[in-house]
Amino acid sequence: MPYSYERKVFMGNIILIGFMGCGKSSVGKKLADRLCYCFCDTDRVIERDNKRSISEIFETEGEEYFRELETKTVKQLIDSVNNCIISVGGGLPIKDGNSELLKKLGTVIYLKLTKDTIIQRLEYDKTRPLLAGNDREEKIEKLLLYREPIYLSTADIIVEVDDKDFEQILDEICNKLKINSKEGI
Ligand code: S3P
Repeated sequence: MPYSYERKVFMGNIILIGFMGCGKSSVGKKLADRLCYCFCDTDRVIERDNKRSISEIFETEGEEYFRELETKTVKQLIDSVNNCIISVGGGLPIKDGNSELLKKLGTVIYLKLTKDTIIQRLEYDKTRPLLAGNDREEKIEKLLLYREPIYLSTADIIVEVDDKDFEQILDEICNKLKINSKEGI
C-alpha cells in the first residue's frame, strides 16, 4: 500500500490549466501515475464523445460550439469523477462561468509558462486550430495577454514550469498540495 498516505491527506480531483503547450496532459499523466489517480483530458473526452478531432469540430461547427462542448464536459465530470487528474483545454477556463465550474470540480493548478517558451514549443505545431495560418507569435501573445489573468484568478496553486523537468514539476505540485508522494505510509 505504498500510496495510501497520499489518499489520507488529499482527496478530490486535481485540475491542470494553462496555455497550449504548457504540458498539462503529459504532467497530468505522470502525476496520475505517481498518485495512483485516474487521468482524463477534456479534449480527448470531447473527441471520443463526438467521434471527431478537435480540429474537425472547429472546422465544421466553429469555436463557439466547441466551447459549449467544453462546458458540458466539465459539468459531466463534476457529476461523475473523484480522485482524478483532469487536464483541460487551454481555452476552457476563459468562457464565462467555467472558472467557477472548475473550482467546483476540484483543486486547480496553473502550469505557467513564459511567452517565449510557449512560442518556442508551439513553433511547428499543427494540431491547434487557433494557431493556424500566419502571425503565430502575435496570436500567442494576444491570447496569453487576455488569458493569463483568468488562469491566475482561477488557480489555487501556480507552478512555473519553464526549465523544469517532470520530476521537479511533480515534486513541486505534491509539495504545494502537501502530498508526501515519495515516502508513502
Ligand atoms: C485550445 C487549446 C487546445 C484545444 C483547442 C483550443 C485553446 O488544448 O482545446 O485547440 O483555446 O487554447 P491544449 O491546451 O491541450 O492544447
